[in-house]
Amino acid sequence: MSKPASAPIVPATEAALTAAAALLHAGELVAMPTETVYGLAADARNPAAVGRIFAAKGRPADHPLIVHLAAADQLDQWARDIPPAARALAAAFWPGPLTLILKRAAGVPAAVTGGQDTVGVRVPAHPAALALLRAFGGGLAAPSANRFGRISPTTAAHVAEELGERLALIIDGGPCAVGIESTIVDLSRGSVEVLRPGAISAAELARVIDAAAAIPVAATLPTGQSGQSAPAPRVSGALAAHYAPGTRLCLVAGTELAATITRHHAEHERLVVLAHQASDPELPGVSWLPMPASASAYARQLYARLRAADALGADLILIEAPPDAPAWRAIHDRLGRAAVGSGAQ
Ligand code: TXA
Ligand code: MG
Repeated sequence: MSKPASAPIVPATEAALTAAAALLHAGELVAMPTETVYGLAADARNPAAVGRIFAAKGRPADHPLIVHLAAADQLDQWARDIPPAARALAAAFWPGPLTLILKRAAGVPAAVTGGQDTVGVRVPAHPAALALLRAFGGGLAAPSANRFGRISPTTAAHVAEELGERLALIIDGGPCAVGIESTIVDLSRGSVEVLRPGAISAAELARVIDAAAAIPVAATLPTGQSGQSAPAPRVSGALAAHYAPGTRLCLVAGTELAATITRHHAEHERLVVLAHQASDPELPGVSWLPMPASASAYARQLYARLRAADALGADLILIEAPPDAPAWRAIHDRLGRAAVGSGAQ
C-alpha cells in the first residue's frame, strides 16, 4: 500500500485562511503556526473533531488540550469563576506565550478538558493564528503538532514530517519566533502555580499578579510544590519523558565536554555535539552544531537543532548544559525531558 499524501503546505493568504476555517467547521484538522510551536487545530466545540486530534497524535484521551482564542474577551465563553489575577495576566501577556488553566465553563466538551473540571486557554501571538481564529469565529483546540512524546514542530516542514498525512491543510507561518511551548499557569485552585515553564518567567508573572494584588503568589514555587491537597492537573508536558529525539541524548557540563567527547570518541561512537563553545578541530568525525548564547535565541533554535541532530543518525547527542540561571529555566526543563525520553527508537 502506498503512503497517503501529505497535506498541502500553504502560505497564510486570506484565501487559504478562509479555506482552513471551512475545513475546521467541517471537523477536519488544520496545522496552524503560533509564536511558540505549530499547533494541530480542530474545532474545540466539536468532540468528533477533537477526537481526531488524539487519534492523529497517538495521545492518551485523558490528556487535556489548550483552547486557542482570538481575544481575551472570549474567555468567559470557556471559563468560569475567573480570578482577577487571571484577568490581569491575560491583559498583560495576551496575545502571547501564556496558557491559563481555569475552571471550565458549562458546555466545554470533556474531550478538550480530558474529563477534568478545568480548561486551558490562550491567545497566540502569531498573525496567521489570530487571522485563522477570527475567520473561524470560535475556539480552536490545538496541541503541538507532533506525535505524542516527540519533539514539537517549529516549521511547517516539521509538521509535514510528523503528521502530514493525517491533516487537511498546513498553514505556513514561517519558523516560530519563541520556539518552545507556552508557560502554563494554573489559577483554578485558589493559588497561582507554574505547571510548565516557558518564555514568560515566574518573575514576570509574579510582577503582574503583585501589581493586581489579587491573591497570594505561589508563582515562584517550583513546579509541583504548591503544597495543596487537591490533585495536581495532568500536564502531558510534565511527563518526565517528553520532547525526545530517537537518538540517545546526554547533558554535559561545559567543563566536562572535551573529556566526555574524547572518551566516547575513543570508543568509536559517532557523536553530535550541541554546544555554546567552539568546536575542537582535534576531534574528527564529530558533528558540531553551534548553539546561541542568549536564552531566547537558544529556545528559538532548540527543537530544529534536536531534529537535525537526530537526523544525523549518530550513536549519541551530547549537549553542553546551558547556564544555570532563571532565564534558562524553560530550556533546562525541555532538555531534561528530552534526555530522559531519548534513545527510544
Ligand atoms: O505553546 C503551546 O502551548 C502550544 C501551542 C500550539 O499553543 N501548545 C501546546 O499544546 O504545547 P500541548 O497539548 O502539546 O501541551 C499543552 C499542555 C499539556 O501538557 C496539557 O496537559 C496542558 O497543556 N493542559 C491543557 N489543558 C489543561 C488543563 N485543563 N489542566 C492542566 N493542564 C492542561
Ligand atoms: Mg506537546
